[in-house]
Amino acid sequence: DAAMKNGFPHFMLKEIHEQPDALKNTILPRLAKGLPDFTDDLIPDFVFEDCDQVHIIACGTAMHAGMAARALMEPLLRIPVTVSIASEFRYEDPLVNDRTIVIIISQSGETIDTLAALRLAKSYGSKTLSVVNVKGSTIARESDYVLYTHAGPEIAVASTKAYSVQLAALYMVCCRMALVRGKYSVEEAEDFMKKLLDSIPAMEAMIEKKDTVKALVTHLINKPDAFFIGRGLDYAFSLEGALKLKEISYIHAEAYAAGELKHGTIALITQEVPVIAIATQENVFSKTISNIREVKARGAFVILLTKESLNVDPGIADIQINIPDIGDRFTVFPIAVVLQLIAYYASVGKNLDVDQPRNLAKSVTVE
Ligand code: G6P
Repeated sequence: DAAMKNGFPHFMLKEIHEQPDALKNTILPRLAKGLPDFTDDLIPDFVFEDCDQVHIIACGTAMHAGMAARALMEPLLRIPVTVSIASEFRYEDPLVNDRTIVIIISQSGETIDTLAALRLAKSYGSKTLSVVNVKGSTIARESDYVLYTHAGPEIAVASTKAYSVQLAALYMVCCRMALVRGKYSVEEAEDFMKKLLDSIPAMEAMIEKKDTVKALVTHLINKPDAFFIGRGLDYAFSLEGALKLKEISYIHAEAYAAGELKHGTIALITQEVPVIAIATQENVFSKTISNIREVKARGAFVILLTKESLNVDPGIADIQINIPDIGDRFTVFPIAVVLQLIAYYASVGKNLDVDQPRNLAKSVTVE
């Protein structure tokens, strides 16, 4: 056990540190002349061309990777991109057909609800592409096409590196689809991939800032609740940040689209309630900042995660963490590191079993 942790106190921290390499292992073998290329994965371009909708299905963290991918894909591809929770999809009469590409995301490749959803989608004639980490797993074997993520084994129950590589794989799928569907020129696709690669040093930079994150959890660990807010892609990242915190620190956390707070949740924002605000998207930046002012006016303790280049007035946040200046669509990678570290240090600070949280299993193979 100690040898496997390679000097780290927990698998989770080790796996957080492994993310830059996991990203390289997932992206680089699929880069040909600067463009995403799935020839070796045996995924032909017609899969991406002959479809008029994308339906993403997964559970838990993998589903959150799907939510972020959706926020990226739909505006770019200009076709409907839907995300379903596998345990819901499998009991619906879903609107998928032979013109649908169904993307199944699963670290283990064994989650029973996700497998059942895959089988249902196939019975409706959809083309199925799975993004899976475990080689030869059931979901990988039963899908029409498989895109393996190369995170290596993930031991901690709370998923970290598997999430990042799922996103990297989905971002590459999105780029390839944009290219073959004429939404991207070769130059635009090259630029996209260059920016995806920039996210690797940005992740490393946030791993190096881990002591800053460690210091801030004192504002969380004695609190019963926390809120995560953001808009657009930042909202998708918030969902995963809240889940991570709940899973291993047992602090109740809710992710909210920042503009939706005023429709109820803001009633819960009182003195010293921690609000983790994510504002990395330039197009909605000023709107999120207004929402931060609203919670601050009610006494919230605001931890703001933003980008170096975005100008924030002093006093808006109690604590501010800047990620490096990378393309807006790629901020998920360094932000994920910060969110994982918040959850990790909150769990450590509460003396909990970080790698084996109560009631949770790494892979859920029962209904
Ligand atoms: C379990 C794990 C989660 C994971 C989910 C889906 O609930 O505790 O961390 O996100 O299953 O697992 P999968 O292997 O399908 O990605």
